[in-house]
Amino acid sequence: MTLVGRHLVQPADFSVEEIESVLDLGLRIKEDPSKYIRVAEGKLLATLFYEPSTRTRLSFEAAMNRLGGRIIGFSDPGASSVSKGESLEDTITTVSNYVDVIAMRHPISGAAIQASKACKIPFINAGDGKNQHPTQTLTDLLTIKACRGQLNNLTIAMCGDLKYGRTVHSLAKAMSRYTDTKFIFIAPDELKMPEEVLNDIEGINYEQTASLEEAIGKCDILYMTRVQRERFEDKAQYERLKDTYILDVEKMSKAKENMLVLHPLPRVNEIAVEVDQDPRAKYFEQAQYGMYVRMALIMKLLGIGE
Ligand code: CP
Repeated sequence: MTLVGRHLVQPADFSVEEIESVLDLGLRIKEDPSKYIRVAEGKLLATLFYEPSTRTRLSFEAAMNRLGGRIIGFSDPGASSVSKGESLEDTITTVSNYVDVIAMRHPISGAAIQASKACKIPFINAGDGKNQHPTQTLTDLLTIKACRGQLNNLTIAMCGDLKYGRTVHSLAKAMSRYTDTKFIFIAPDELKMPEEVLNDIEGINYEQTASLEEAIGKCDILYMTRVQRERFEDKAQYERLKDTYILDVEKMSKAKENMLVLHPLPRVNEIAVEVDQDPRAKYFEQAQYGMYVRMALIMKLLGIGE
């Protein structure tokens, strides 16, 4: 089925085959970006960011610029008519009169599906609260595919804030559709993977532990996450939990030689800077894959230039 005109609110909106087609195009773009510099000429992307971002917003904007398209939008909702009380639906309906595709980030879980229902052009969820972050998942999948050459038969450990981290919710659901995936969820009791995500991956082999040291030698991918300060009501609890896991050179010495360390970023303390020199640390490369996969996604949704 074609992806032209579709919305992306969560990874399950696309079939495995459709995701593969985006990843394959992302890899082709990375091989020779010069082939694609004009394909989106005359097209406009709106980036509507109701919550802070570095990678997602700037990689979307870099992606559209590198395709020859143009961008409008806001990164401070206080400077838009949202500050006058305009509804999400009215904002989306209005902006969809001006542009060809919208990428929106919002602090409220469920805002993306709500916005997509009001959107008559392709709508991309760029992260909604603690719910989903599907373009981060496309980024993660492309990084794994490029660096490991496969998405099947992998043991993926996810470590840190599995309760509030939307990236791990999306990635767990997406990876559960590949053959022989195994998960190790590493979190303290307060930040364990939510039941609804565990229900969604029913039938998939997973274990839960609080020990990074025990798990690190068993995984092919170690997906580190930040404890999400902005989602805690109890700030004292955040302070207590924020440094539960710190990946350092000593812990890396217990990992497989071909293990990959991924992180959606931003990093706070959970990966020591000394790990950046380890060839298994792929998180900055991952951020670059994010731009290529967003170029591919924009092209697919707009039906341009392949
Ligand atoms: N990975 C990610 O979503 O980063 P930003 O919050 O900087 O966009």
